[in-house]
Formats: sequence, C-alpha cells, structure tokens
Amino acid sequence: MQQTATPVSEPLGEPRDPDRRMMARALELAAAGVGQVSPGPLVGCVIVDDREKIIGEGFYIFDRVRHAETLALEQAGSNTCGATAYVSLEPHAHHGRTPPCTNALIAAGIKRIVAPIEDPNPEVSGKGFAHLRSAGIEVSVGSMAHEAERLNEKYLHFMRTGRPFVHLKLAVSLDGKIATRTGDSRWIAGEEARALSHRLRYESDAILVGAGTATVDDPLLTDRSGAPRRRVLVRIVLDERLQTAADSQLARTARDAPVLVFSGTSSAAAASDAVDTLQALGVEVIADETGGRDVFRVLEELGRRSIQSLLVEGGGVVAGAFIDAGMVDKATFFIAPVIIGGREAPTAVAGVGIEKMADALRLDEVEITQRGSDVEITGYPRRRMKDEG
Ligand SMILES: NC(=O)c1ccc[n+]([C@@H]2O[C@H](COP(=O)([O-])OP(=O)(O)OC[C@H]3O[C@@H](n4cnc5c(N)ncnc54)[C@H](OP(=O)(O)O)[C@@H]3O)[C@@H](O)[C@H]2O)c1
Repeated sequence: MQQTATPVSEPLGEPRDPDRRMMARALELAAAGVGQVSPGPLVGCVIVDDREKIIGEGFYIFDRVRHAETLALEQAGSNTCGATAYVSLEPHAHHGRTPPCTNALIAAGIKRIVAPIEDPNPEVSGKGFAHLRSAGIEVSVGSMAHEAERLNEKYLHFMRTGRPFVHLKLAVSLDGKIATRTGDSRWIAGEEARALSHRLRYESDAILVGAGTATVDDPLLTDRSGAPRRRVLVRIVLDERLQTAADSQLARTARDAPVLVFSGTSSAAAASDAVDTLQALGVEVIADETGGRDVFRVLEELGRRSIQSLLVEGGGVVAGAFIDAGMVDKATFFIAPVIIGGREAPTAVAGVGIEKMADALRLDEVEITQRGSDVEITGYPRRRMKDEG
C-alpha cells in the first residue's frame, strides 16, 4: 500500500520531457550521497550530448571533495562542447574547498544548463546562474523543483533559517500511546519500522530525546543502520534537572559519540556535582536559565554547531514542546495494531495542544506505507495561519 499525495511541479517555461527525464537521473545520482554530504548539499549532475545521450555523470560526497559537475565533466572527457548539463542544484561560482564549478562548465563549452532551484547558500545564491548566463550559456531553472526541494530539504532549511530541519518520529499504538503506564515501550512497532528508524537516524546529523525517555529507556541513540556516514550522530537530551545518570548508556559512551545535555542553571542540576561527573565522562552540559525548555533556543544552538538535521524521537512531552513551538518540519508516525490503554500511559504528543479542531496541525504531502504489520504515516506539517503573520 503506497499512497502519495506529492504534487509534481511542472518545469517553468516550456515543459520538455527529456529535461524531466535527465533531471530525474541527476536527482537519483544526488541521492547516492545521503549520509555523506552534510554540511553540504546533495548534488547530482548528468552531461548529455546533442543526441540526448548521457556522456557523463557524477554526484557529490563531502569527503571526496570534488563536486558532481567536475566528476561528470571528467567522465564526459573531450565531448562536452555544445553539451547540456543537468545539475540538481545551482552550481557555485565562488572559491570554496574547490574552484568554482561554473568555471569548469564554461571552460568545457557547455551550451545549456538545466537546474531545478537556486542554492540559498548566500555564497552561491543566484551568483552561479548569473555567472553562467554572463558567459552566454542558456540557463533553464525550475525543472522538478519540488522534488529537488524535498531531496535537499535538510540543507535548504538550514541555509534559509540557520536552524536544523526537525523530523519528529514516534511509534504509537492504535490508542495513541507511546508506552505503557509503567513506561515500557519496547517494542510498539515491529522490526521493519525499527529498521527504518535507524535509516532516519542515518540521514540525520543529530538525534534528540527528553529526560523522561533518557531515564526510563536508557537508550544508546546510535545509528545502527550499518550504512557509512560522514558525521557522527550527535546525541542530545533535554534535561532541565540533569537527571541523566553517570552510569547511563549515553554517559558511558560519550567518548565514542558526542552527547549534549541541555540543562538548567537554577535547579538542583547546577548545585550538584552532577555536571562535573557527566563532563568528566565526556558529556557536554549546556546550562542556561531556560534549561532546554525553549526549543527555539536549543535549535539555534544546534544551528551554531552546523547541525543541519535533527531527529526528535520523543517522548510525548518533548514532542508536544516541539509541536507547540511550531518547530516540527516533518513527522513520521509508525502506527502499530496494538492497544495499550491506561489513563496514565503516555500519549504520543503532550504539550499544551489546541482548543479547536480547526487549529489541529494537519500534515500535507502525506505518504502512507505499510511496514510489516505497522503503518507508517509521513508528512509535512501545514503552516498554521498564525505562523504566517
Ligand atoms: N513509542 C515511542 O516512539 C517512544 C519514543 C520515545 C519515548 N517513548 C516512551 O515515552 C516515555 C517518556 O516520555 P515522556 O513524555 O514521559 O518524557 P520525555 O518527553 O522523554 O521527556 C520529558 C522531560 O524532558 C525534560 N525537558 C527538558 N526540556 C524540555 C522541553 N523543552 N520540553 C519538554 N520536556 C523537556 C523535562 O524533564 P524535567 O521535567 O525533569 O525537567 C520533561 O519532563 C517513556 O516511557 C519512553 O519509553 C516512546
């Protein structure tokens, strides 16, 4: 069962089928870099000759340094004069870790460039296209723009806001619970959903839970997808009263993978020697007067650390805090055919909530996928009217 409500945007100007076909290939190539590009974007490039034959392909991986365009041009060799380049994001015109890709495209004699969107990185934004046009290259922008936006949603959001893209993921029972009344939640969803959860960790720069989850579950919060990743997954706990124990799995493994704990200054946390103990184990304790309660400030701090994507894995109190703050950019719920019951059993989303159904947070572009005996619902929160003011 797969139901997709994703609108497919038409290329701007003349819709040309070969453009969509080649851009789809460029996007497919770009996706091969997932997990290996942060803090850069996913980029794929296809070079096509005047008979619409692919003569070069490339995609970006941060540690390989060289850009998709350079790799594709190299593969195309001496046949690039008069060719068309399909690039999944605006080529850059500045000197970064590599010389400008626009120079390479111009020098190769490329006649036409097709790209879906501008790169909002202020170093690149519009300048790449302008440089290419000034060299007499025809530049077509807009082909598969929506798909390109979605592919690079983390990078683009980070570039536009300076904060990480927040993906909320929860496993819930049919009655909307995320654990039993004793806090037991292992396991609500089945193996397939759990494997996919690791894939979501793989695609994220950081993962975050609340103190409740850190205490009750004693999780490791590592990426066990088995796929190669460039940046180590940063593990974050919102823990105002600094309840994270020195013998917790997180604290004991803090030297292997970073653990950040947001705690308060006026609570028992600051007065006790808990901070010293955790720091001696390698945990970084970030203490301020908000104690992690101000989700926006937490995200700004993560943005300063160049964390572009954050997977929020609960529990319900933290999920509620992110939703109340309007800071969820994407949501995935695995709904399991199990009924937990119990007034005291934690609900998927606590927080303040809303008064009227009309104010409920609705998801757009919803995908509903069967995962074993569970159902995954993934979508993008519709912007509320008040957010638009
Ligand atoms: N099924 C699932 O997908 C899933 C996922 C995660 C967890 N769980 C289950 O959920 C249960 C825990 O959930 P929970 O809702 O009780 O706890 P939680 O959301 O994990 O943690 C809530 C606590 O985090 C601290 N906190 C710090 N900053 C916060 C902020 N900005 N917003 C909200 N809280 C903040 C607060 O601790 P203080 O009040 O002490 O300051 C708060 O009580 C466990 O039983 C766990 O097994 C299930």
